[in-house]
Amino acid sequence: MKVLVTGGLGFIGSHTVVELLNNNYEVVVVDNLYNSSIDVVDKIKIITGRDFKLYQEDVCNKEKIDEIFNMEKPDAVIHFAAYKAVGESVNKPIMYYRNNLVSTLNLCEAMQKYNCKKIVFSSSATVYGNPDVLPITEECRVGGTTNPYGSTKLMNEMILKDFTIANDDFCAVILRYFNPIGAHESGLIGEKPNGIPNNLMPYIVRVASKELKELSVFGNDYPTHDGTGVRDYIHVVDLAKGHLKALEYNNRGIDYFNLGTGIGYSVLDMINTFERVNKVKVPYKIVDRRPGDIAECYADPTKALKVLGWKAELGIEDMMRDSYNFILKQKGN
Ligand code: UFG
Repeated sequence: MKVLVTGGLGFIGSHTVVELLNNNYEVVVVDNLYNSSIDVVDKIKIITGRDFKLYQEDVCNKEKIDEIFNMEKPDAVIHFAAYKAVGESVNKPIMYYRNNLVSTLNLCEAMQKYNCKKIVFSSSATVYGNPDVLPITEECRVGGTTNPYGSTKLMNEMILKDFTIANDDFCAVILRYFNPIGAHESGLIGEKPNGIPNNLMPYIVRVASKELKELSVFGNDYPTHDGTGVRDYIHVVDLAKGHLKALEYNNRGIDYFNLGTGIGYSVLDMINTFERVNKVKVPYKIVDRRPGDIAECYADPTKALKVLGWKAELGIEDMMRDSYNFILKQKGN
């Protein structure tokens, strides 16, 4: 089976390409290197001992996408390519809407033209907004997104839903990720945000490795067990494996799955566990809440287990160890 992976050199994309190659899928990556680096290609080849094709192109370029589909005739698409910085999306909404929506529209048109029937879409727990009930099931209300990035994820889901309604032999699997962290155990690939990181784990590892002075903990007055924000962190390798299950799933129309562990950890839990596992200090200070943040968010991942046979296998210690190992390897330690 030939799978076209957009954004296949990014954080989640690269780990998914590794799992695909390890499971004998033929892989074609389309990536414009906007938020990824070309040396990931060799790293993936070292990890897997296998080869794949790369088109260094933008998924928003309709003519190029048409050409690639015409040449490759993929059997399925996994669509990761998107802008993903929440704060930036507030300042540059049109850039986010254009990039994150046009790319999907181009893919849908090419899939229709070249008879490619299946897409797995990289969505996010952000589509649930501020959840009414916890843990979050796929039946929970979506909407109330608090930033343009989140809105593009929800709009993409709507586009794919309407597309599958209009084309009843076309199927889409929407994967709603909770908080992906960790890295491949080799330490060769991982998360490498440009500039100062926005997300918790990339920030923690940079403080631990002394590239940044201290972590700011955004608020300790939330209604959680220690007052800091609670999230469902999931190892990126587990997440990657979820995409293979989604590819193998023989659904009709559109279906939605939460990919999380079902366990919530607070910011202080994360700092303490990181320090214990890696035997390194993470200096921090408590600051004001970050606007737009919610108190608590964790998944009910039962449906993914029942329907896809997928379950997160790696625990929080593995996530801590692998995140730090990746940074140390990057620095040549
Ligand atoms: N946090 C800090 N300090 C930091 C960074 C984060 O205290 O420097 C806290 C946040 O307040 C939050 C928790 O750590 O309580 C996690 O924050 P992240 O920024 O790592 O992740 P979010 O849950 O805010 O957002 C993530 C993804 C989004 C996605 C969302 C879906 O980054 O893309 O999950 O739930 F939309």
